[in-house]
Amino acid sequence: MKVLVTGGAGYIGSVTVERLKRRGEQVVVLDDLVRGHRAALEADVPFYQGRVGDRALIARIAKEHDIEACVHFAALAYVGESVTDPAKYFENNVEEGVALMGALLKAGIRRVVFSSTCATYGEPEQTPISETCPQWPNNPYGWSKFTMERLLESYDHAYGLKFVALRYFNASGATELRGEYHTPESHLVPNVLSAASGELAEVAVFGKNYPTPDGTCIRDYVHVSDLADAHILALEYLRKGGQSDFINLGTGHGYSVLEVVEAARTVTGGHIRVRMDPPRPGDPARLVADAKKARAILGWHPTFDLKGILRSQWDWRKKHPTGYVD
Ligand SMILES: NC(=O)c1ccc[n+]([C@@H]2O[C@H](COP(=O)([O-])OP(=O)(O)OC[C@H]3O[C@@H](n4cnc5c(N)ncnc54)[C@H](O)[C@@H]3O)[C@@H](O)[C@H]2O)c1
Repeated sequence: MKVLVTGGAGYIGSVTVERLKRRGEQVVVLDDLVRGHRAALEADVPFYQGRVGDRALIARIAKEHDIEACVHFAALAYVGESVTDPAKYFENNVEEGVALMGALLKAGIRRVVFSSTCATYGEPEQTPISETCPQWPNNPYGWSKFTMERLLESYDHAYGLKFVALRYFNASGATELRGEYHTPESHLVPNVLSAASGELAEVAVFGKNYPTPDGTCIRDYVHVSDLADAHILALEYLRKGGQSDFINLGTGHGYSVLEVVEAARTVTGGHIRVRMDPPRPGDPARLVADAKKARAILGWHPTFDLKGILRSQWDWRKKHPTGYVD
């Protein structure tokens, strides 16, 4: 039986495909390549270029392969873009998500691991953030993921769809073969490394007067292969009859933007220039996970610290200076 990975040509999806295959799992990938890269997948991975909202295509994939579960990564994920063009986010992430879940159920597929996000919490009332903290997103991207979470809950109740919604904090880092490569790139780690390599003249730091020790935002950085492994544990949990659940994926340790820059200077030996820009609307000061539930329910233990994350992405960049060539 096979696992359908939507968005499997994207950053976290392609690393998850790599790790699933290494464990001997059979995988089928569906991706429209709007943000992903065919070159991020091995040539022998069954690949469908198409949209998750295409019900007929999902039915065809289910018929052509014996699909047992779906890991649903496919989504648009730029917070700023979701503010300027929310329709794009609700149509792609929610409308197409509804179609996908309907088509999966119709094909008898009742196990889903869903990519959710710490953005569903919005401005947290407390940190570290546990799964029971109130959720009130402060951008359309977060609302699109929040809506899919509620849909999954309702579908479990009504139709017996079992799911694990994994709320990732900041995915970062690379494996030997796959790394983070987006155009444009909005994430701090690749941008700091671009500043170290000279590809960017400087890295922008958004806001310096947050209520944190150095005034810059604090985030919880999780290595992409640790994240990928959590999906495999979540699949195993569902296969053993585990109940649907919402689980944070973070390390429980936060680093400020300036601490990331400093760590990147140490790892790369590069001179990294910083440009102080105004804060971005809706950027919370501190997003750090309470990571206890992932340990308790899934037995998940993240293995990389910040320098390990930076080193892995730096090594990948040196081998792939122009990213993926499609
Ligand atoms: N990167 C992070 O730090 C982070 C944090 C929290 C949550 N997430 C979530 O994790 C998932 C993966 O994130 P990523 O960083 O790998 O993003 P990504 O953009 O690299 O990957 C997403 C993939 O989905 C594909 N896709 C998008 N819409 C599609 C559609 N309608 N049909 C088919 N394919 C479609 C894109 O082409 C891309 O390959 C997303 O759902 C994102 O919201 C990411």
